[in-house]
Amino acid sequence: MTKFRTLDDIGDVAGKRVLVREDLNVPMQDGRVTDDTRLRATLPTVTELADRGAIVLLLAHFGRPKAPSPEYSLALLTAPYEAVLGRPVSYVDWEVADENVAMLRPGDVAILENTRFFGGEEKNDPAVVERFARLGDLYVNDAFSAAHRAHASTEGLAHRLPAFAGRAMEAELKALEKALGAPERPVAAVVGGAKVSTKLEVLRHLVAKVDHLIIGGGMANTFLAARGVDVGKSLCEHDLTGIALEILDAAEAARCTVHLPYDVVVAKEFAPDPPSLRTCNVHEVARDEMILDVGPAAVEALADVLKTCRTLVWNGPLGAFETPPFDRATVQLARTAAALTEAGQLVSVAGGGDTVAALNHAGVADGFTFVSTAGGAFLEWMEGKELPGVKALES
Ligand code: 3PG
Repeated sequence: MTKFRTLDDIGDVAGKRVLVREDLNVPMQDGRVTDDTRLRATLPTVTELADRGAIVLLLAHFGRPKAPSPEYSLALLTAPYEAVLGRPVSYVDWEVADENVAMLRPGDVAILENTRFFGGEEKNDPAVVERFARLGDLYVNDAFSAAHRAHASTEGLAHRLPAFAGRAMEAELKALEKALGAPERPVAAVVGGAKVSTKLEVLRHLVAKVDHLIIGGGMANTFLAARGVDVGKSLCEHDLTGIALEILDAAEAARCTVHLPYDVVVAKEFAPDPPSLRTCNVHEVARDEMILDVGPAAVEALADVLKTCRTLVWNGPLGAFETPPFDRATVQLARTAAALTEAGQLVSVAGGGDTVAALNHAGVADGFTFVSTAGGAFLEWMEGKELPGVKALES
């Protein structure tokens, strides 16, 4: 595994200004944080550094602003963050950052304004790196979920100040290493979600890495169609069936077993509990029906596959899980994975986009070995890409 320095190597931080890159990019509605998972993920690092007497300066982006604007201000997050952290947090505007930071005392925590209010942040502009660097003595990157960006605050700073991985970053890198870096075999991957087009690189990389590839969600329809199945009016990227066949061939060459559903839950309309709901063999889908979930017999077979495995990586739901009853396959397989994990038989790692929502919905997020808070970064890791924010921390 790549070596990186952590808070164990940072030395005496008392009185030092530590720039800590966190991911505070949380969903908000009417001024309220609707999911504070990412805020809670920062606590081990921020609490430890503050307790060790550091002046903790949080660097983070919020949204994708084109220019500074109040709706993207991290001032909006200061009170919610203070509530989660359970100690005072000050907000520091860029205009007065030097003066405000100079007034902070050991153990204080402050949130600096949105890093993306500088146009050069996303360009990794050396001038912006300097602007950040002059506020701190040390740099800690704790934001795995932003590590796929080579930005000034996620990558540039690591070359400019002594750099360390925070506790959340450390936990994430260790879990990912266990999942795909040096996993216990057999390894299974569940890849679901609506579209194959967004996960081609993930699938290409995984077939060479895992023993079982379980494909679910709308993207399974493209693979079924590639194998000659008539998927009716299901969501299907017919133009990608050639690529789907290439992936199936690559899997066969790599001795990776691909599991596609052989029974499915279908309906004529996409609505909660529609009257046309039925379960059938994949070869019996009518012209006016669409596949909305993996069927119960296939889920049982998939559960049996997981029982033979030691490691599982999960990304994406198996069906249209937000609309009942098309959540059943996802819920059932996630519960099996959690039970196997709890029994000590399986290391289970999940992440990316809808996945955390799906596991929360199944009530099993705590039952997995590790659930990543990352979206795009988790997918890029699943594609086998080197993440610039992680690479820059290598020692
Ligand atoms: C995320 O929400 O996945 C991260 O915060 C990265 O955000 P970005 O896609 O705007 O860079």
